[in-house]
Amino acid sequence: MPSRKPTKQADLPGLLLAWYDIHRRVLPWRAPKGKRADPYCVWLSEIMLQQTTVQAVGTFYRKLLERWPTVRDLAAAPQDDVLAAWAGLGYYARARNLHAAAKLVANDMDGKFPLTAESLRELPGVGSYTAGAISAIAYDERQAAMDANAERVIARLYAVDTPMPRAKPELKAHCMALVPARAGDFAQALMDLGSAICTPKRPACPQCPWTDYCLARKRGIQEQLPVKAPKMVRPLKRGAAFVVTDKSGVVLLWKRPDKGLLASMLEPPLGPWEENFPSTAEALKQAPFDVAWQKRPGVVRHGFTHFELEIEVYVAEFAKRPASNGRWVSRADLPNVELPTVMRKIVEHGFDQRGPLFAQSTISARKR
Ligand code: ADE
Repeated sequence: MPSRKPTKQADLPGLLLAWYDIHRRVLPWRAPKGKRADPYCVWLSEIMLQQTTVQAVGTFYRKLLERWPTVRDLAAAPQDDVLAAWAGLGYYARARNLHAAAKLVANDMDGKFPLTAESLRELPGVGSYTAGAISAIAYDERQAAMDANAERVIARLYAVDTPMPRAKPELKAHCMALVPARAGDFAQALMDLGSAICTPKRPACPQCPWTDYCLARKRGIQEQLPVKAPKMVRPLKRGAAFVVTDKSGVVLLWKRPDKGLLASMLEPPLGPWEENFPSTAEALKQAPFDVAWQKRPGVVRHGFTHFELEIEVYVAEFAKRPASNGRWVSRADLPNVELPTVMRKIVEHGFDQRGPLFAQSTISARKR
């Protein structure tokens, strides 16, 4: 009989976990080493991290958790308070879903989060990635949390050159085959490895615990993976906005409709968004009051997921506030109201000769 040599499989999960035990990031939502995190904290952080960077989430996460320490506290809060606390993080559907999910857990589930990825998906705002991340991190369920970092690491480890997003199922299957009992640590280790070592450009391969087993490195193609989908060209929309203030700098804001983009959030009065800017004469017809408007130089630019927006800003200052069913908000209160980033940029542009409006800019908080 031919002799068979046992092939020694590398303990890939073990190597990564050993690296993680030394190099793990300290993050506000993470449990200390060897402990499991509270599902409420994990869920809250994962919803915030869906479209926002780790760095930007930190302050918002602490603020929300301090104000609403339990899911029941969050469920009992008025929706406008939750939207206001979210202001600046962007993608406000997340805040609405967060509040709806909190009510579901508090009122229909006795305040306890579902215990599996499958049942977590029943919560508004929790998709396949988030359910996997929560159940792995909070319960050590054997789930793969495939965010962009994890996808990059796995694409390189197995030299998967199928273009994204088509490669996703293949990457998830490779990852699932690796997930060990410490599923939560493994998921977070992949995130940390992708963020610190296996970076999109110039990865630090010599420091990687998987360097000897990485097929992309072996072939020298690590920087080419994962293969990106061709870039979508986003259409450009343009319009005018009207920043109305009184002498003390109190600004007029309106509530947006309760359906559609940035639903129920505040905005300065705005004209329609079309292919071209309105001429000054057209803009004045769109203006909320028939007064002497001043057009500010420059434009405000903002990128939404499906289009780019450019806005020209007109300003008017009233000695006495005109009648309006909008909300007059003082400069000091602006950071505390549900004013999305794009609207903040517009108001800021309207004010920009009076000095900076906002102490802290969150414009760069979006993940690109
Ligand atoms: N990105 C998404 N979830 C994360 C987490 N739990 N830690 C770090 N980065 C993340």
